[in-house]
Amino acid sequence: MKTFIKIVFGLLILFALIQFIPLDRTLKPIDNKLNFVEVNQTPQNITRILKTSCYDCHSNETVYPDYAYIAPISWSVNHHIKEGREHLNFSEWGNYNADLKKDMLENAVKTIQEKEMPLPGYIAYHPKANLSAAERKTLAVYFQQQLEHHASTK
Ligand code: HEC
Repeated sequence: MKTFIKIVFGLLILFALIQFIPLDRTLKPIDNKLNFVEVNQTPQNITRILKTSCYDCHSNETVYPDYAYIAPISWSVNHHIKEGREHLNFSEWGNYNADLKKDMLENAVKTIQEKEMPLPGYIAYHPKANLSAAERKTLAVYFQQQLEHHASTK
């Protein structure tokens, strides 16, 4: 029993200590001229869906939920955001070259249709970001239209 209490106590101390490991949550300044929704003059209803369901991980406009401040959950959250931005950053859309834009639009259609995005693990904690069937369709159709528009202007 004594060992058990020691272990629990040790874990509590460890949990308290890891809260002090610093994490970088600074947001880069936002240049609206490069922002996907500005560049493409995205309609407001689509902008709203993108900002609620995608921008937390794919932009420099991340809104951190409360649980994102509790280690070790925060480590996983930060990792997803870092990785999400590395793959696709809507805040830097204007800097992407034509090929990258095309790839990203194609992948966006695919990941939305296949329900890979928004990340399922995130929706579990963040039900607001979940897409209804109708929103999923609207978003996929919008990215598809952007793709066709992109092909015709290239
Ligand atoms: C919780 C964070 C998170 C959210 C929210 C999220 N993503 Fe992602 N996304 C990621 C991560 C991490 C990756 C890279 C790893 C992977 O593919 O699983 C990724 C990859 C992608 C890719 C592939 C990029 C490439 O390099 O091919 C696309 C496209 C994408 N996401 C679109 C979206 C869209 C559209 C939304 C909103 C409907 C969204 N994501 C919401 C984290 C997120």
